[in-house]
Amino acid sequence: MEEQAQELKALFQNENQYTGAERPNHKTRIIAITSGKGGVGKTNLAVNMAIAYGQLGKKVILIDGDLGMANVNVLLNVVPQYNLMNVINHQKKMHEIILDTEFGIRFIAGASGFSKIANLSKEELDYFAKEFASLSDADIIIIDTGAGVANNVLQFVAAADEVYVVTTPEPTAITDPYGIIKIFTTELVNREINLKLLVNRVHSAEEGKRISERIITIVGQFLNYKVDYIGFVYDDPVVQASVIRQKPFIVVNPTSKPATCLNHTVGRSVKTDLGADAGVSNFLKKFLGGKKSK
Ligand SMILES: Nc1ncnc2c1ncn2[C@@H]1O[C@H](COP(=O)(O)OP(=O)(O)O)[C@@H](O)[C@H]1O
Ligand SMILES: [Mg+2]
Repeated sequence: MEEQAQELKALFQNENQYTGAERPNHKTRIIAITSGKGGVGKTNLAVNMAIAYGQLGKKVILIDGDLGMANVNVLLNVVPQYNLMNVINHQKKMHEIILDTEFGIRFIAGASGFSKIANLSKEELDYFAKEFASLSDADIIIIDTGAGVANNVLQFVAAADEVYVVTTPEPTAITDPYGIIKIFTTELVNREINLKLLVNRVHSAEEGKRISERIITIVGQFLNYKVDYIGFVYDDPVVQASVIRQKPFIVVNPTSKPATCLNHTVGRSVKTDLGADAGVSNFLKKFLGGKKSK
């Protein structure tokens, strides 16, 4: 692992080494979306947020990193033929597996691709890293990580520039994000992860604020960790309806409460500065070296 991380460091001298450096100061913002338990709305928020960034003129790539429940494609109404594994196996180039969608964003099916990269030989990793670097023309990459503490999820968390932790109101509103953040503090090498709390399915703005304040307080007090409150999303039937129609609510119900909330959240997010180690080239380095080895 450590060795691989070192090799990657040598491999990437700068972000645009393999992409022509058309935009010298350009850095891709990489956002991982996670939660303690499943079913809190990660995939729906990831898809609709990705589209909201796209509507702001950003080039967005959404990656389905959830191995168990790969359902981004259902929400985006696309059927991916290839996924990251095909790139790792040299069957496809990265640009051949990226799907355009009718909603202005691009999509990559992750399958088990990411779980394989930790075991690649130097040559294989070199190849994959060059392919992965071609994604650095995106402004924003959003990774729907799935829930919990699988190796992969922790590596995404370690590697992302921003980690959105999604929670929902009672009964597990507090214990769930607390539990997962506690695991980050013990399992990850770097404590400098940028945690943002997103409270989904609330019935009022006050409810979101109240839940976030409690989480921020106990995480600060017991884990000595800083979490920012990035926003809330109303519980609303348009979410379920858009799942059934396979048309994201941000597109078909742009004035609905959940869409308005997500637009606010995204608007706040794009205004925050990126850290010095942001971007695609740093992502793989952090991905490989981010989790403590047992
Ligand atoms: N804001 C919301 N309002 C109403 N229902 C929601 C909302 N967010 C999520 N849901 C419901 O929760 C279900 C699970 O959401 P999903 O995005 O698949 O969760 P996860 O990816 O965390 O497992 C969705 O099918 C949807 O019906
Ligand atoms: Mg999901």
